[in-house]
Amino acid sequence: MTKLFKKLPNHIAIIMDGNGRWATRRGMPRNYGHREGVNAIERTIDACLKYNIKYCTFFAFSTENWKRNKEEIDGIFELLREYISKNDNIFLDKQVKLKHIGIIEPFPDDLKSCLMDMEKKTEKFDKLTITFALNYGGRDEIVRAVNQLLKSKETDINEKSFSLCLDTQDLPDPDFVIRTSGEQRVSNFMLYQMAYSEFYFPKICWPSFNEKHFVKALKMFEKRKRRYGGV
Ligand code: IPE
Ligand code: IPE
Ligand code: MG
Repeated sequence: MTKLFKKLPNHIAIIMDGNGRWATRRGMPRNYGHREGVNAIERTIDACLKYNIKYCTFFAFSTENWKRNKEEIDGIFELLREYISKNDNIFLDKQVKLKHIGIIEPFPDDLKSCLMDMEKKTEKFDKLTITFALNYGGRDEIVRAVNQLLKSKETDINEKSFSLCLDTQDLPDPDFVIRTSGEQRVSNFMLYQMAYSEFYFPKICWPSFNEKHFVKALKMFEKRKRRYGGV
């Protein structure tokens, strides 16, 4: 499969956007869009396995998403809990490592415990790492890292030691950031880590995202010339 592409991103980070609009256009409640969005996550994980992607991170809940109404927030938490604890668990079946970034402390206890349980059960798997960004904000992450360094009394801080204080300490920087729904902004996602990421903004809303869109995205990435400031 890998031979289909001359080069592949090692880490794809996805800002899954457009669930609400997708549902509203169909005369359905916003949470119906989030439910269909979970199916798109599952399709994307399968595509990562098929095309040999090593890391994929999904932005699932931002530090700003607490502004939404309680019903929508509770609905998202319930979907996540259901998804992570499903009996035919996809992470164990597919031998995929599950992680999270962000502060899950304010989340419901049942969601936290099933997430931590699944992280523990899958920690040894290494072909694909799936990370959910939950109550995650890039600015919050940077400020938490600064506070951690202040407490450590460390005085000689460099990019390496700083990045080790971020939630992403054991993840490579994302090579490729995909945001669906046509919005072209980062909305506080992985601010430090995106320094040299390639971006792609397909118009499709997240619940409709499928293998065909994923392959198109990989083809876009294949054409990019990354220069990192060189010539
Ligand atoms: C993204 O879809 C999912 C989350 C932020 C949890 P939205 O819910 O933002 O959908 P739109 O942007 O309102 O259509
Ligand atoms: C970004 O989407 C957050 C997630 C995908 C979880 P939003 O829909 O919350 O972002 P804005 O409000 O349009 O910038
Ligand atoms: Mg949105």
